[in-house]
Amino acid sequence: MSNSPTQIQLIQPDDWHLHIRDGEVMKDVLADTARQFARAIIMPNLKPPVTTVDLAKAYQERIQANLNTLGITSFTPLMTLYLTDNTSADEVRKAKAAGIVGFKLYPAGATTNSDAGVSDLKHCYAALEAMQAVGMPLLVHGEVTHADIDIFDREAVFIDAVLEPLRKKFPELKIVFEHITTKQAAHYVRDAVTGGKNTIAATITPQHLLMNRNAIFAGGIRPHNYCLPVLKREEHRVALLEAATSGNSRFFLGTDSAPHAKGAKEAVCGCAGCYSAFNALGLYAEAFESVDKLDKLEGFASFFGPDFYSLPRNTKTITLVKQPQNIPAELPLGDATIVPLRAGETIAWSLV
Ligand code: NCD
Ligand code: ZN
Repeated sequence: MSNSPTQIQLIQPDDWHLHIRDGEVMKDVLADTARQFARAIIMPNLKPPVTTVDLAKAYQERIQANLNTLGITSFTPLMTLYLTDNTSADEVRKAKAAGIVGFKLYPAGATTNSDAGVSDLKHCYAALEAMQAVGMPLLVHGEVTHADIDIFDREAVFIDAVLEPLRKKFPELKIVFEHITTKQAAHYVRDAVTGGKNTIAATITPQHLLMNRNAIFAGGIRPHNYCLPVLKREEHRVALLEAATSGNSRFFLGTDSAPHAKGAKEAVCGCAGCYSAFNALGLYAEAFESVDKLDKLEGFASFFGPDFYSLPRNTKTITLVKQPQNIPAELPLGDATIVPLRAGETIAWSLV
């Protein structure tokens, strides 16, 4: 590949961390994702959360109904369950049999719709034991939630306080450290000793590759750049970009695209979440190109995710061209609108 290509062809990517919500708004966000990705891991933080196989099946049917309405036949949702203090080992085995791809750990109170999350991982030992036994991945929102820990330190503290003890207790459990935001997390995942087993990986969002925390305060408060875990200092962005573009198969694509209506973001207490689904691949291409590593995009976007989840790689290809795309100021979201990441600006790469 030349140093500055104007076109790149990739095996079609998947999104290994996505929020599509429910009801009226789902259709609008699904269409954006399905334009680019063949599959996506669907986060279970609905209200109420998707805690059982039966609830996940019902959610999957609602997703399928929307795909049918949209005439989309090329997209597969991968379903997850929301881990709670009460998740049983039986539910884990039932989930495995039903094709659920992971359980999501939200520490209680960590982020949007996490009130039903885990209060203490000790309550989950039976479920975690079963997950380890059947090869069910644990998807982790890696932040401690104590009010006395500075919000910018919550992920780094989580590594020592929760993740490392968890990996010691369940050494064969497959863990995805989701949407990592710090140098500490990138290095922890890179350096983790797994005895050659595929037991740890991390997803990285486009916003954490492209922006640092200044973007939340550029000339005034910028609610659309606020997500959780929150953007960090530049040194962390640089470490994440290095990890993503390193060719290390422990790091792969997960947008964490998390739609909230404009009014819920531009509010006295605005919701956390960036909507990147509109042209997520263009954003990733821009990030990889910034360090002249476009040749590493395909592994990150299309190979390492399915390999970790023991799913087949996609076979179709897509093409990205270096052709500026204007990102609209707003997009429809049910009865409301949503402000996408980089609204009103241009992104250098577009999907053909
Ligand atoms: C997500 C959401 O809105 O559901 N928000 C976010 O800022 N990322 C939840 C999450 O993944 O933390
Ligand atoms: Zn998320």
